[in-house]
Amino acid sequence: MIRAEAVAFTYPNGFRALQGFSFEIKAGEFVALIGANGAGKTTLLKLLGGLLKPTAGRLMVGGLDTSRVRVAELARRVGFLFQNPDHQLFLPTVREELAFGPRNLGLKGRALAERAAGAAAAVGLTPYLEANPRQLSKGQRQRVALASILAMEPPVLVLDEPTTGQDYREALEIMTIIQQLHRQGHTVLCVSHDMEMVACFAERALVLGGGKLLLDGPLAAVFAREDILAATGLLPPQAIQLARAYQAAGLLPPVTTIEELYAAIIGVLRGKKDARQVLPA
Ligand SMILES: Nc1ncnc2c1ncn2[C@@H]1O[C@H](COP(=O)(O)OP(=O)(O)OP(=O)(O)O)[C@@H](O)[C@H]1O
Ligand SMILES: [Mg+2]
Repeated sequence: MIRAEAVAFTYPNGFRALQGFSFEIKAGEFVALIGANGAGKTTLLKLLGGLLKPTAGRLMVGGLDTSRVRVAELARRVGFLFQNPDHQLFLPTVREELAFGPRNLGLKGRALAERAAGAAAAVGLTPYLEANPRQLSKGQRQRVALASILAMEPPVLVLDEPTTGQDYREALEIMTIIQQLHRQGHTVLCVSHDMEMVACFAERALVLGGGKLLLDGPLAAVFAREDILAATGLLPPQAIQLARAYQAAGLLPPVTTIEELYAAIIGVLRGKKDARQVLPA
């Protein structure tokens, strides 16, 4: 669904934000994009949304070369949620906001109304269709921005820190909606600084640092590379750090996921002397 071939991007002032790297994301994957401030995450998403074009290499989405296709055409394939939802909300009601994209795709009348209503329902905003997006809470505005993308029905969602600035409950609500969209078949690439959220929702992570792709693999493998994570200012989720401490004290076998940690602790609490007895070999 996404293929980056030696993709590089240099800003007009000469700053090399992406240094040339390759990766592939298959249809239906849920991938986290992580890295310190300034690592190049937003730049990569802007390339995927066609807002910037690679200055070297190639970036393909759903078989389309993002350098050759118009942004409007790419918008049918890629829904891009900005880091700040207020940068993509500009109409007086939620209903109009959600109708804007599909109207540009040529939808009219009942089909248009149904598309907007469906997108509102997908994010739990049906009661707010006549509200002014600017008067909603940050989390609700984020959901309006997400729904405005869903209204275009793109197979790929690229989401730039969808939970920033929200309380835990709102953040969890947004992530649960995104998880449902993933289960319905959307391919998701999601930037996050919250490793606990990443551990709960993503299957795989790409780690960017200084414009380079430092790690790419299943979450457990990425979280095991504490050396590289630390160099980019990231820490694995607390549960994984706790597991390492137990492991170092000889109390638990090596575990790499929160589920394995849970199983190992349950084993110890149930009185097994050696937690290995309750873990699969
Ligand atoms: N328009 C621009 N011109 C020049 N340099 C830029 C421009 N936009 C971003 N940069 C630089 O490119 C680098 C990558 O920025 P980017 O916004 O992609 O980082 P990020 O990983 O999204 O960071 P954050 O976690 O803070 O959102 C940064 O050093 C930034 O200063
Ligand atoms: Mg960013």
